Amino acid sequence: LFATFLGFRMGLLLGLCFSLLLGSTSAVDRGNFKTCAQSSFCKRQRALKPGQSPYRALLDTLELSDSRLTLQLINDNNKVHLLLELYRLQGNITRVKINELKPLKPRFEVPDVLVGEPPTEPLSVLSKDDNGVVLSLGPESQRLIVSARPFRLDIMEGPQVLLSLNSRGLLAFEHLQLRKNTQVDPEGAEVKENVDGAEQQGEEEKVGVYFKYCLKKPNLFLFLGPTSVSLDFSLPGVEHVYGIPEHADNLKLKTTEGGDPYRLYNLDVFQYELYNPMALYGAVPVMLAHNTQRTMGIFWLNAAETWVDISSNTAGKTVFGKMLDFVQGSSETPQTDVRWVSESGIIDVFIMLGPKPSDVFTQYASLTGTQSFPPLAALAYHQCRWNYNDQEDVKAVDQGFDQHDVPYDFIWLDIEHTDGKRYFTWDPHKFPQPKDMLQGIMDKRRMMVAIVDPHIKVDSGYKIHNEIRDKNFYVKNKDGGDYEGWCWPGNSGYPDFTNPEMRAFWASMFAYDQYEGSMENLYTWNDMNEPSVFNGPEVTMYKDAMHGSWEHRDLHNLYGFYVQLSVDIANGESDWSLFVCMNAGAVWTGDNAAEWEHLKISIPMCLSLGLVGISLCGADVGGFFKSPSTELLVRWYQTGAYQPFFRAHAHLDTPRREPWLFGPENTALIREAVRQRYALLPYWYQQFYQAHKTGQPVMRPLWVEYPKDTASFAIDDEFLIGRDLLVHPVTEEGARGLTAYLPGHGEVWYDVHTFQKHNGAQNLYIPVTMSSIPVFQRGGSIIPRKLRVRRSSACMENDPYTLYVALNPQRAAEGELYIDDGHTFSFQTKKEFIHRSLTFAYNTLTSRYLVKWVQVICFSCKLFLYNFFSDSPHTPLSLCYTGKETSVEFEFDASMSVLTLRKPGMNAGADWTVKLQ
Ligand code: NOJ
Repeated sequence: LFATFLGFRMGLLLGLCFSLLLGSTSAVDRGNFKTCAQSSFCKRQRALKPGQSPYRALLDTLELSDSRLTLQLINDNNKVHLLLELYRLQGNITRVKINELKPLKPRFEVPDVLVGEPPTEPLSVLSKDDNGVVLSLGPESQRLIVSARPFRLDIMEGPQVLLSLNSRGLLAFEHLQLRKNTQVDPEGAEVKENVDGAEQQGEEEKVGVYFKYCLKKPNLFLFLGPTSVSLDFSLPGVEHVYGIPEHADNLKLKTTEGGDPYRLYNLDVFQYELYNPMALYGAVPVMLAHNTQRTMGIFWLNAAETWVDISSNTAGKTVFGKMLDFVQGSSETPQTDVRWVSESGIIDVFIMLGPKPSDVFTQYASLTGTQSFPPLAALAYHQCRWNYNDQEDVKAVDQGFDQHDVPYDFIWLDIEHTDGKRYFTWDPHKFPQPKDMLQGIMDKRRMMVAIVDPHIKVDSGYKIHNEIRDKNFYVKNKDGGDYEGWCWPGNSGYPDFTNPEMRAFWASMFAYDQYEGSMENLYTWNDMNEPSVFNGPEVTMYKDAMHGSWEHRDLHNLYGFYVQLSVDIANGESDWSLFVCMNAGAVWTGDNAAEWEHLKISIPMCLSLGLVGISLCGADVGGFFKSPSTELLVRWYQTGAYQPFFRAHAHLDTPRREPWLFGPENTALIREAVRQRYALLPYWYQQFYQAHKTGQPVMRPLWVEYPKDTASFAIDDEFLIGRDLLVHPVTEEGARGLTAYLPGHGEVWYDVHTFQKHNGAQNLYIPVTMSSIPVFQRGGSIIPRKLRVRRSSACMENDPYTLYVALNPQRAAEGELYIDDGHTFSFQTKKEFIHRSLTFAYNTLTSRYLVKWVQVICFSCKLFLYNFFSDSPHTPLSLCYTGKETSVEFEFDASMSVLTLRKPGMNAGADWTVKLQ
């Protein structure tokens, strides 16, 4: 289970609304979305100045159990007490929780996102005096220092401060309070009704400070005032911070002084702008901080609207300026300061102390779980558009792919396939025989995805609406009636997915006997789950809508997560790993545009998502709005072919753009890009298996693998797939060449198309033509491919593997081969998989089991070797296979030092050795 906050359009992901002006250059209507200054709590919090913290730790209230320390904090201005809880968690994580000591009513604490109560480690007090307490954090002389006046926390390692909390005094916790003219009912009902409409329909205060409604008991309201929380973090020695998706911005986060903070509030943004901190469809409140010594993470577990401010004492200094400081001895330690502000809830923050990037990924995965393992086909190519018109259209497109010899695995149907936007139904005229259509697709060993949005047409003739209404499963208005908003079907109800019973009901709708016309090759697309409400504030739900006893305000960023969770239940009941139906399945970057800058930004957007546990990410290939030039379309296919989620998609009003509509030359270029993807599917699958097991991202920024190489820290026009493939797609119009950075001193990189060898670390100029997709394999790695590309990944099931062995300067290489049936959970439940370790050393390539499998699935595939990258010729070869020695045919290309073994005939699941003699 992977858990995080997703409102993403998940592929199943999120979506957008509105009627669209095609070809127009209009950008986002900023007036629809709040700035910090228009978001009252953000404005209030931002007005606080550093250095004036009113909070003091009351050391005599300290209590220490084995693994939990509690301590009261007092705000000296208003005398309100807070409760601080500190935990040392297994795996080098520190948890800091701050809540009111005695809130008037419980404050929202995010449920369901953590995989369980995180296991703790013992905490011990090293020393204590009037100024504070020093606690041991266990490893490597790490300590946590609690200072009393003003309150602050410092995490140290030896003499070094790794991170400080409230060092700038921006802890601010707005406590719940009764409005002055509210009277407490002595009978215990607590409150006298006194609604004066201070907050109408989720609009924030019309007056300075707002007082909001909280449904206490039916018809009773409590006025509790503003509830925001804020805390600052200082990161000495850090100049690079990353993460907190989703934003259309660079990988390295920018300082926010003078502009708005980065906003986390799941929103359906029409024609989003690039390179700015506005909120988009999803929100993952995790930030990574990195320098050459250490990587750390901050996970802010809060589901309310959140803003993140970033400042740095070196921002704006040029490299020359920094050097000058250094030479003159005047340089202060670089430092990044961040500040998180959320509208409600509590402060619950996990400090992941690394020290390596991979440790932070493991630490985050230990808290929220890892990404589900997608079926192989999900990693292949997807053909989507809004909309394929009818069954004949689907058939024609499907045949088009065969006629033009372009493989694909999934064809997608958007909202127009339904009967009047009633999800789980089919338009009776355009899709009268869905099963025939699905069978036709299945006969080609392909699959279909149909959209299911989480808003329900209010229509007494629609069974699903009637059931949800009768079961009382809709989100409520503040006054208890069913909340209604406007979306694709017109007036719609919004199921309360935070209710487990609602989730179970929704999951049951996917059963074959409920979802008429569905078959086993039909998968689901979850869109619009911000939730998108066309006539709501900022195109979403009023904040005072009610989910049981909680306001939408408290859990807005969890809505999409819960939609996904419920589809996940349906998935759990199936034996197939449904990629659409996964908790944090595929994510697309929303409604982008057919513009070069949108192609470029797809890289940092997906890299940022990968850093926080969402690896299956892609952008709409070709761009959703507008019409791409042919050159842009080709370049987008070439880029998408090397990004995790590879799906073409286009807006309803755009001209058709199936791969064969741009002349034979361009069809050939697109075909080649898609074929490269299919050939590499074994490697992609293996990477996703690892991501599922360990939480390491699939698409990685260079610094993750080269954490000491400062030149790589801000690169976001190229990326790694796993450790071993480096991709620098062409994203410039009219490009004749590009400069790729090949990282790693002592590393060698092989051009995968020419086998030419290049040394790292260097900036390499690469001339390009329209067919170029610059990709390099790391020397020292072994990558599996399947070279016989067929019309879908399922058709390639029994084909042989080809191993690409790229030697490092020590003439060695290693890799893995992971194989299972590609679509069921048998790899988990029955341990039916093959996982081999492949090693080349001392002129010998060896395959050994890495993980012992219980039962081997019968694969008829053979394994043959191809393309040894090698420095010098050898006289090969003997092949030792299950005890027998045979000799093998080979070719050697001395000019490129490439040795090719054809058809050695080993079994992928067996032990074997190839010796070059
Ligand atoms: C918004 C989604 O982002 C887009 O991909 C989809 O085509 C439309 N909704 C219509 O369903």
